[in-house]
This record gives sequence, structure tokens and C-alpha cells, in this order.
Amino acid sequence: MSNKTIYVQPGGGFDKVIVSTSEHAAPAAGEISVRLRANSLNYHDYVVVSGIWGPTEQRIPMADGAGEVTAVGSGVTEFKVGDAVVSTFFPDWLDGRPHVEGFTQVPGDGIDGYAREAVTAPATSFTLAPAGWTHAEASTLTTAGLTAWRALVDDARVKAGDTVLVQGTGGVSIFAVQFAKMLGATVIATSSSDAKLERLRELGADHLINYRKDANWGETARQLAGAGGVDCILDVGGPATLEQSMAAARVGGHIAVIGILSGVAGDLPIVPALAKQLRLQGVLVGSRQQQMDMVRAIDANGMRPVVDRHFDLDAMVEAFRYQESNQHFGKIVLDI
Ligand SMILES: NC(=O)c1ccc[n+]([C@@H]2O[C@H](COP(=O)([O-])OP(=O)(O)OC[C@H]3O[C@@H](n4cnc5c(N)ncnc54)[C@H](OP(=O)(O)O)[C@@H]3O)[C@@H](O)[C@H]2O)c1
Repeated sequence: MSNKTIYVQPGGGFDKVIVSTSEHAAPAAGEISVRLRANSLNYHDYVVVSGIWGPTEQRIPMADGAGEVTAVGSGVTEFKVGDAVVSTFFPDWLDGRPHVEGFTQVPGDGIDGYAREAVTAPATSFTLAPAGWTHAEASTLTTAGLTAWRALVDDARVKAGDTVLVQGTGGVSIFAVQFAKMLGATVIATSSSDAKLERLRELGADHLINYRKDANWGETARQLAGAGGVDCILDVGGPATLEQSMAAARVGGHIAVIGILSGVAGDLPIVPALAKQLRLQGVLVGSRQQQMDMVRAIDANGMRPVVDRHFDLDAMVEAFRYQESNQHFGKIVLDI
């Protein structure tokens, strides 16, 4: 087959995105071939493709890919032809403690990603997708889904009755609302939009704050949480939100340091972190085993992701422009 493929030229930039073709080999031992059907967009993919942190060489973008297995190499017992699969963020981090640093081994950044019709890769670069999900739905899990899951379950160890604070209505935060409710937590959610807050309520969020209208939303969240404050905060804003996240936390609370939506550096008061004995945990997505645990939990609970809008693969730049506008609620996907 021709294997239509999107490339980003060195340095990145929306004017450096081209449609071409790539080689598609038969699987060697330990590999599988996948007919990719969908990608989902993440802020990370945006910074690569837009050129904010563009690639140093020509790169096939997109970390999140889902589709069906079309061939299996010798020795592969985990998958069979026809299985619905979804890619992993770190093909080399299978299980155990984090041993990966940065993005050199991440598809769509340090290595080629999944903006193409077909790929042959080590079987460990994929896991099974949740049963009954469309490929578009499955493609939402690799980055946003797993980040929210790992932060809540593996790092913060959220349990029923805890209070969780999420920020904004992007991919990570919407998954965090859904997983936190699955775990039996009370959810406080923020957004810049009252209309989006209403949609968060429909999704199960218990308390809502418009962070544009309430500059001290951290203190508001602390009061809403009761019992001294919020147990677990998923910080996606970075410099503009971390101080408020610390204000929201209870003594000994957990802050997952996830996002850089407001920038990569800034002034941060240290005293609240030590005065409250906070745990600030940097997060970089998660391992393959954590993804398998997440899929198992999704299967057991019948959860479905929130897909905001579909674009065709060829309309990738248009899709990123839409993401840039912050109109979305949940995930944006590309159909391949
Ligand atoms: N460390 C990791 O492993 C990891 C993994 C995935 C993502 N991330 C990072 O997490 C962040 C979110 O990623 P995403 O893919 O979910 O992004 P996204 O889908 O593009 O999220 C955008 C939404 O975030 C909200 N937002 C924007 N600026 C904000 C601010 N200053 N304060 C609070 N909310 C703000 C807005 O929601 P409203 O319109 O509702 O206000 C906006 O619609 C990004 O910085 C990304 O790089 C990190």
C-alpha cells in the first residue's frame, strides 16, 4: 500500500507540514504491523508541529496512534491480526520505576510517530485498546489518558472520598475528571468558560470555579474541599497556576506537576510547599504497564472518552489551529 504519511520539516512550523508517503515493511520477529485509523492531538504534539519545540530533523509527528493489527512477526503472542490497539508514549518504558528522561524516545518527537496510514513496530509499542471503543476514542489514551491515570492512581494514590482538583477542560483534565469519579473522589473543576463549566457538571464534577472570574481560585477550592483542603491537584497551567494549586492543597497534599500551558518558567514561592509539607511530583506520562492497568479499569467501568471534534489526517494544521483557539472540550482527533 502507498502508506500516506505526514512529515514535519526540521524546525517545525505549520508551513513545514507536508503530505507524502513512507516505507511500510513486513513485521520482523517481535514486531507487529498496524493499520492506523486515528491520532489524537496533545499540547506536546502542538509544540512539536508548530515549531515551538520543533524537531531537529524531518519527523513523522503524533504520539497517539490507534488502529488494527494487520500482521504479526514471529514470537509475538500478545496480539493477533484484527486486534484493536493503541500506541504507548514510551516504547522503552515497559514497567517499574521511571527510567526515561525527556522526549528522545517519544514517537512524534525524538522518533517517528503515527501520522501515517500504517506502521511496523515492536509489539511493545502498543497495548490492546479498550473493548468496544472506536479507534478515534482509543487514540485519546496514549498521552492525555495515561497522564491523568498515572497521576491519580500511581502517584497520588487517590481513594474514594478524596478531593481532586483539575484545571481547564483540555484532554488531560477531562480524563482526570472521569478517572477521579471512577475512583469515588469528589472533583473540583476549573475553566475560563461558564459554558464549559456546565459541561463539566454534566460529566460529574461536584464543584465548579471560573478561574478567570476568581483570581483566588486556589483558596476557593481549599474551602470547597473542607477537611483542610484538596488531597490531589493536577496542575496543567504551570507558572500561572502552581501558587494557586499550593493554596488549594491540604497539609501533606499531592500536586502532580504536569503542564506548561502558561509557560515554562516563573516565580514560585517555596514557603507554602514546605509549610504545608506538600508533595510536588513531576509527571511524564507513564509506562506500558500503567497503560494496560488503565485499559483494564476502563473495560471494567464502561467509561468512554470525551471527543470534541474530528478532522481528517490531511487537515492536521487546521486541527492544531482549532486546539490553539482553546475552544475544545476534551480531545481532538484525526481520522486516518
Ligand atoms: N507531563 C506530562 O506527562 C503531560 C502529559 C500530557 C499533557 N501535558 C501538559 O499538560 C497541559 C495540558 O495538556 P492538554 O493536552 O490537556 O492540553 P489542551 O487539551 O490543549 O488543554 C487546553 C485547555 O487548558 C485550559 N487552560 C489553558 N491555559 C490555562 C491556564 N493558564 N490555567 C488553567 N487552564 C488553562 C483551557 O481550558 P478552559 O478553556 O476550560 O479554560 C484550554 O482549553 C499541557 O501543558 C501539556 O503539555 C503534560
